[in-house]
Amino acid sequence: MSNKQHMYTSLDDTPDKIVRLLKSHKSGYISGEKLCKSLGLSRAAVWKNIKKLQSLGYKIDSKQKSGYRLVAKTSLMLPWEISDGLQTDIIGRKIYYFDTIDSTQSFALKLASRPHENGTIIVAKRQTHGRGRQDRRWISPDGGIWLSILLRPNFEVSHVSLFPMLVSLALALTIEKTLKLKPRLKWPNDVTLGDKKVAGILVDASVESNQIDYLVIGVGINFKVEPSAITKIAKGSKNFYGATTLVGKKTDADPVMFLQTFLAELEKMYNKVIENNISGIKKDWKKRSSTVGKNVKISTPNGYVTGKATGIDNDGALLVSSRGKTQRLLVGDISSQA
Ligand code: BTN
Repeated sequence: MSNKQHMYTSLDDTPDKIVRLLKSHKSGYISGEKLCKSLGLSRAAVWKNIKKLQSLGYKIDSKQKSGYRLVAKTSLMLPWEISDGLQTDIIGRKIYYFDTIDSTQSFALKLASRPHENGTIIVAKRQTHGRGRQDRRWISPDGGIWLSILLRPNFEVSHVSLFPMLVSLALALTIEKTLKLKPRLKWPNDVTLGDKKVAGILVDASVESNQIDYLVIGVGINFKVEPSAITKIAKGSKNFYGATTLVGKKTDADPVMFLQTFLAELEKMYNKVIENNISGIKKDWKKRSSTVGKNVKISTPNGYVTGKATGIDNDGALLVSSRGKTQRLLVGDISSQA
């Protein structure tokens, strides 16, 4: 793994420990001496770490006689911030954070060759070569949540096609809970607000002799982005129908809290799939679907399919009926729905 610049992982325990100590003394100052003792570091090393944290956006006040006080935490999605209060057992047990990376998905795919990596997440502030579905580019400016999740589920291969549905549903529930907005789900895996795309999901799977070796779930969320930064570049591309942002530049919505809620929702759903309890997921997805009930035109690897979208089956396939015949579509892109 070559991209080590400005990378932090949940294994970097010095910043994690300092931030925890500062948070536990929020009402007052913690002395330099106490920090040195608790961390087993010299004064100079503590000072260096404090400087580093300040450069990462933490507001830390230092007073000669009193020590250090945390005034405000960073808004960066640093590993130890995501871990602090994360209510999951598997997803996020190891976290990588990058300031800039080509693609979190490519990084996760490289990590996948290590068999013990399960539940690892990779988060980036910006991506230079973000990947979208169908080999499209994914514009990933500052302010978004660009995330890949590496999982090794122990279930049937046929369940892989459920992932776009369950990840987009987990996202919709998170948006409803944390931001009180009403997102819609566009088959197969788009999350929309006001008919514009606000998030997309990309699933890369490796399957060996009918067993899932690993899944890499890529999630791109326009959390607090400037929509024009995306629109400007993406507007000519096939099937682009507009992009929007979840929150405006001036709101103080916390991406870390959003991400923690999403990971917890996703793990709940993942456990439901493990228990083969899919009907509830299907029902909740359908309730939010902007596709079911519409006349659709879908481009598939075998050409266009037109008809009425009537529902979704237990594999996440869209059911499209035309002239008394129903087709099951597992892959495709909606060209129009009305
Ligand atoms: C889509 O085309 O709708 C899927 C977009 C998926 C984008 C995410 S951003 C994080 C991860 N890394 C990538 O390069 N792509 C996915």
